[in-house]
Amino acid sequence: MPATSMEELVSLCKRRGFIFQGSEIYGGLQGFYDYGPLGVELKNNIKAAWWRANVYERDDMEGLDASIIMHRQVLRHSGHEATFSDPMIDNRKNNKRYRLDHLVKDQKADVIAKVAEAMGQSAENFPAVVAALNASPAQASQALKDAGVRDPFSGEVGDWTEPKPFNMMFKTTIGPVADDESYGYLRPETAQGIFTNFKNVVDSTSRRLPFGIAQIGKAFRNEITPRNFIFRVRELEQMEIEFFVVPGTDEEWHEHWLERRLSWWEAQGVPRSKIEILDVPKEDLAHYSKRTYDLMYDYPTLGHEEIEGIANRSDYDLGSHTKNQSELGLVANVEENLDSIAKLTIPHPETNKPVVPFVIEPSAGVDRALLAVLSEAFTKETLENGNERIVLKLRPHLAPIKVAVIPLARNKAELVELARSIKNDLQKLGLGRILLEDSGNIGKAYRRHDEVGTPYCVTVDFDTIGQSGADRGEDASLTGTVTVRDRDTLAQERVKISELTAYLQAKLK
Ligand code: GAP
Repeated sequence: MPATSMEELVSLCKRRGFIFQGSEIYGGLQGFYDYGPLGVELKNNIKAAWWRANVYERDDMEGLDASIIMHRQVLRHSGHEATFSDPMIDNRKNNKRYRLDHLVKDQKADVIAKVAEAMGQSAENFPAVVAALNASPAQASQALKDAGVRDPFSGEVGDWTEPKPFNMMFKTTIGPVADDESYGYLRPETAQGIFTNFKNVVDSTSRRLPFGIAQIGKAFRNEITPRNFIFRVRELEQMEIEFFVVPGTDEEWHEHWLERRLSWWEAQGVPRSKIEILDVPKEDLAHYSKRTYDLMYDYPTLGHEEIEGIANRSDYDLGSHTKNQSELGLVANVEENLDSIAKLTIPHPETNKPVVPFVIEPSAGVDRALLAVLSEAFTKETLENGNERIVLKLRPHLAPIKVAVIPLARNKAELVELARSIKNDLQKLGLGRILLEDSGNIGKAYRRHDEVGTPYCVTVDFDTIGQSGADRGEDASLTGTVTVRDRDTLAQERVKISELTAYLQAKLK
């Protein structure tokens, strides 16, 4: 059974070294998390699985790794300076600041109903309530006070200000010059690096439509209320594809990507039955979107929340950057070079005339993916002997440690050295991390590896080296063999060391 609460996951992540609070020794920094020894492996494995499926296994994709800090003009002309904001509201009583929709959503049902009524909306249609609050700030402030909206921090009814937009981009100065022009932004989505490199990629690869550019990287959002562990953070990682298509074929491609992405999630152990597809209502679409499907995964405690957005961005971004580059004169000899340099166009595959392609964008959060994968793998089982165990039933390709090699006694040099040499041989297979686990307590080692999802434990014992001892009865046939324990079935099998690499390679494929 998957995890039933977020607390269970948070506790496992901290206990076993998946995720820690950022800057923890100085009291922590809200909205920032550090991935520990196992977290970094799991995260890398998720990203590798995504890259494999979306770049290596397709013939119509290129990869990219663009800079995080971007020219302010990029984010101005992408529309982010003007529109990448969330509504913010303050409580005058304690100066606490909240995101308006989160504040109202977390109130009791009768309070939400009163707010909705005051704004002339139905509480059933929450997005419409939020839209009405944003549209009439003075009325919103009064409605929240009259309805008795409580401050989540103090628990008391707040004295609410008028909501106002808060831009979520992190601004940073660039270089030693302290003038008003020397600033850039930390990208709020990786996508803009793809759009600004569109021409570079087309020219250097001779790609024709349809084709895509994939990128995995950090993005930054100064969230008003980061919360729910790594679900809503200020420094996040995204796995994004911008798939460029001939205008008019965009709707067909949108469906293609919806299907492809759902089957990818399934292959990571996140079943379709746990994902609802939200066809985002027109009034909630991002400024660039013609249509968006949000994949809403059923997270423990939170319920259905967005894990990935698949947007039809039309020709908005390439069109906007084309127009603004030439208007601003950012390209030398704009008039002469408009076709070859400034325009983010590509020849139409049939007419050969330049066309600004439409874009389908599947955009998934790595942190949210990791949370979903962990949540699906988390299993509590009662064993035959009545003991309870926690086991992470991760798909082998995602497991942070593929195999733990355990010498039965840490003070027996012969066992440790043989275990080390088996570990080194297995490591050469390129399956991922193989760990020499010489903590000395086999029971604890098994428990730990169940909890972190290690698919196989290999134990090197006295039988392996032909020293089982007269009291236990010699069994020469066990010499040169090790025990392989299966995480899920708990079955233990004796395997010859000479056959071990082939055995595990087949199991972990
Ligand atoms: N380029 C499109 C884009 O950025 P988005 O819906 O704003 O679209 C895409 O973000 C994905 O990034 C989301 O589906 C989510 O998985 C992840 N994401 C967005 N904001 C996040 C945050 N504050 N913390 C963690 N993940 C986030």
